[in-house]
Amino acid sequence: MRKYYVTTPIYYINDKAHIGHIYCTMSADIVARYRRMLGYDVMFLTGTDENATKVEQAASQKGMKTQAFVDELANHWKEYFKNFNLTHDDFIRTTESRHIKSAQEVFKRLHDSGDIYKGSYEGHYCVPCETYFMESDLKDGNCPDCGRPVEKISEENYFFKLSEYREKLLSYYDEHPDFILPKKRFNEVYSTVKKKLRDVSFSRSGKEWGIPVPFDKEHTIYVWGDALVNYLTGVGFPDDNERFNKYWPADIHIIGKDIIRFHCIIWPAMLMSLGLPLPEHIYAHGWWTINGEKVSKSKSNIVRPHEEIEDLVKVSGVSEPLARDAFRFYIFRELPFGDDGDFSQEKFFGRYNADLANDLGNLLNRTQQMVFKDHSGKVPEGEILPEIQRKFDDILPSYHKFNEEFRFSKALETIWEFVGTLNGSIEIHKPWELKKQGKIEEHGNLMRTLLEGIAVISSLVSPFIPESAKVLATGVGLNEPPKLINLNMDNLTPGSGINKTESMFPRISKKRLSKLTQEGLPSDENMVTIEEFAKIKFKIGTILSVENVKDADKLLKIQVDTGKEKRQVIAGIAPWYKPEELVGKQVCIVANLKPAKLRGELSEGMLLAASGKEYVTILSPEKKVEPGSKVK
Ligand code: MSP
Repeated sequence: MRKYYVTTPIYYINDKAHIGHIYCTMSADIVARYRRMLGYDVMFLTGTDENATKVEQAASQKGMKTQAFVDELANHWKEYFKNFNLTHDDFIRTTESRHIKSAQEVFKRLHDSGDIYKGSYEGHYCVPCETYFMESDLKDGNCPDCGRPVEKISEENYFFKLSEYREKLLSYYDEHPDFILPKKRFNEVYSTVKKKLRDVSFSRSGKEWGIPVPFDKEHTIYVWGDALVNYLTGVGFPDDNERFNKYWPADIHIIGKDIIRFHCIIWPAMLMSLGLPLPEHIYAHGWWTINGEKVSKSKSNIVRPHEEIEDLVKVSGVSEPLARDAFRFYIFRELPFGDDGDFSQEKFFGRYNADLANDLGNLLNRTQQMVFKDHSGKVPEGEILPEIQRKFDDILPSYHKFNEEFRFSKALETIWEFVGTLNGSIEIHKPWELKKQGKIEEHGNLMRTLLEGIAVISSLVSPFIPESAKVLATGVGLNEPPKLINLNMDNLTPGSGINKTESMFPRISKKRLSKLTQEGLPSDENMVTIEEFAKIKFKIGTILSVENVKDADKLLKIQVDTGKEKRQVIAGIAPWYKPEELVGKQVCIVANLKPAKLRGELSEGMLLAASGKEYVTILSPEKKVEPGSKVK
């Protein structure tokens, strides 16, 4: 049996899962399901990256012990993935002893082979990105990737001799042009490596949280130096040789475009140093933005997939498992894998109506109605219509090609071409007229063709929308979707019964949809009345003084003169404003917000600001006004 090993990145568990994480894991799930249906012995690995400084910081912000914090969040992630019906074979946590052992073994082997040496590091570290930067890399003194402040560090480090691998990497890329996919990412990596490679710091000193360097307890392994090794640990490294030899090398590492450097440069060099074969492919997907903005906790525009699914259930009445499928369908049909894209509920619901309710659901529903009415709910004898057989023969190789190339949106488009052809055949052959004219045989041929068509569709869609695939299969009387290997249009036995299914994807009514389109809101519950709005008091204040909040990169402590009184506001605008720029500015604040403590500091109001893709800018009155002026 051929093996297939697919991995996802392991997720930092400083927070809960959002659309980006689910997208990545679902894509691996599609690959795993597709390969299983082709008869491969699949190993699908996902998990959590727990030894990061930002994880440790998140725990301390919550006032929790780091281990207790990661245990709690790892359970959340496991449960979350389970609810999405993801079919990973293993979930690895980097705080597990099997991984600690494996990461230490790798570090030791790299050291033994002379590729790890001790040196001193003078530079910067970005905790949110868990990346080292030299002074010259910084942009306006901040992290060049995320724009946030970096920590200046000067410490003794172990370094990995990445620079020595430049030539070897380049010749590997030359010989394996589809190692890094899509092609545009290959080109980016190639030119980065071509320019120059610097050795990388591979340990931190004086940190309590992390995996100790095996021969020097003063150091912990740099989080990426341990995280990448999870791909080896997951298949039995270093103890279970049989398992390891069976699955390694990975067939594909699926990653996001932000972590290409680690996976396509550092990781291959580490494997070369270890004398291990490199993965077949690394595929970097794009990023989701939300209504045009980067997903960001501070901007609270995080899409939590389960909330979208709940909303869809509310507006359409679709069952929850099928709503989950609809979400999966949308994110992979909408966005070519590898490109960036924008999530909006409006587009999600629009696609649900068009592709799932009108096309697929309707095909099953109307076919069933006709078969029940005119053939007593049994598969009729009959020939497959030649034009439909031709279409099927035509789309099948494209479908497989697109799946092999991880072009999921194209694979789905291909299936929907076939769905369209089947729906079209009803319009062309007009079964209601065939019936009137007593053309029973022709009617039977058409119904048999539609039922066989639905049967093969259930197989083709199965990696993408597995629950819907089951409904389609049972809807034509099968126990499960036919296998993808040697799929043909001959899966049903004439005379066997089909099963009545509930309306599969009920349409969201035009009225509901246009209301959503106009207001971008899922329901009346999200609207406020004028009375409710009037409860919020806005005031203009003049900023008197500003200082940074200790240990909080984003927060500023701002004293504001609001007329009769002075108040303190804590605002998350430090990445965009230096304290001195703000003094004297007038701002609009929510004056009757319940006071709250942020990082131990009292905040007595909220400052209004506009936020865009790359900026946050505070709102000021156009002309200077009296501090304390009301805003209406
Ligand atoms: N822990 C590292 C990976 C180590 S792998 C050895 C990490 N974790 S992460 O949680 O920050 O990101 C995990 C994955 O989620 C990345 O592939 C990243 O691209 C993906 N996404 C996070 N936000 C995303 C979007 N908004 N859209 C799509 N995917 C994005 O990096």
